[in-house]
Amino acid sequence: TVSSITRTLCSSAVRNAAIKHVTVIGGGLMGSGIAQVAAVTGHSVVLVDTSEDILKNSAKNIQGSLKRVVKKKFADKPEAGEEFVQKVMNNISTSTDAASVVQKTDLVVEAIVENLKVKQALFSTLDKVAPAHTIFVSNTSSLPIADIASSTARLDRFGGLHFFNPVPMMKLVEVIKAAGTSQQTFDALLDFTKALGKHPVSCKDTPGFIVNRLLVPYMLEAVRLYERGHGSKEDIDVAMKLGAGYPMGPFELLDYVGLDTSKFIIDGWYEKEPENPLFAPSPLLNKLVAEGKLGKKTGEGFYKYK
Ligand SMILES: NC(=O)c1ccc[n+]([C@@H]2O[C@H](COP(=O)([O-])OP(=O)(O)OC[C@H]3O[C@@H](n4cnc5c(N)ncnc54)[C@H](O)[C@@H]3O)[C@@H](O)[C@H]2O)c1
Repeated sequence: TVSSITRTLCSSAVRNAAIKHVTVIGGGLMGSGIAQVAAVTGHSVVLVDTSEDILKNSAKNIQGSLKRVVKKKFADKPEAGEEFVQKVMNNISTSTDAASVVQKTDLVVEAIVENLKVKQALFSTLDKVAPAHTIFVSNTSSLPIADIASSTARLDRFGGLHFFNPVPMMKLVEVIKAAGTSQQTFDALLDFTKALGKHPVSCKDTPGFIVNRLLVPYMLEAVRLYERGHGSKEDIDVAMKLGAGYPMGPFELLDYVGLDTSKFIIDGWYEKEPENPLFAPSPLLNKLVAEGKLGKKTGEGFYKYK
């Protein structure tokens, strides 16, 4: 029938529609990286944050990162490199008003502060002004996608894209299908991830998805091993690098990720599943965080950084 043909055409049109225009909300560590990768792969990107100063800094960081890439890739053609950086930067504009820029966007990627209420408030506002076809995703590391999506009326067009730091370097993106995410939306997100030159893996909307669900308990078990005197931090790190082939040991990784971030993740899971021994809080981790020793970013965590 005509209507079934129309339906087929419409759904395949939606399925095949490339995500071309992307709005990235949050110009911090992750948002800047996501905006950069999307711009490099030819997407038109609007980067949103709360102030012009922050956005200026984000643009500076993106440009700096691109210049490092160019130095290697265009070593003998500096002019072509300069042109490349300019072209990519031309794909990025910035704004402090998300509601006014989402009107022509195909995808909103949220990478703001890890706080459920703040994320819900943002999406609830955007849901009212974004076009019907626009897909919303969160880059959250520890919050259920369904809880964030519940602030909107587009559960079928809501999912998760979990990128890894540093975004331009790390190949993996966890693509999260929440209970309400439609197959069409999920397929569009897989396609988008591939268009970014990344490798997607499919995940359910469960705590930590795949990578953090394995990695965070592993890092905490290393802390417990050390607390029980089974080995020094240095020996545990060397053991995992040389024995398991990991590029960093667990203590180096904790310092890199940030001790506060790791504590925040484990505390959230512990609250939900206090009987799970893998999610038990670590006294030593809590002590270091209380002392403000948060890892590399504060100059000291499990190790000291000059
Ligand atoms: N850091 C990581 O390794 C990592 C990895 C994967 C996912 N994540 C997740 O990505 C998200 C962002 O993390 P990050 O490390 O980039 O944080 P960040 O602190 O570096 O950046 C967050 C940015 O969001 C801005 N912001 C806060 N509230 C806002 C709002 N209402 N509207 C617009 N901008 C707002 C802040 O000004 C800041 O620039 C978090 O949900 C985090 O869990 C982080």
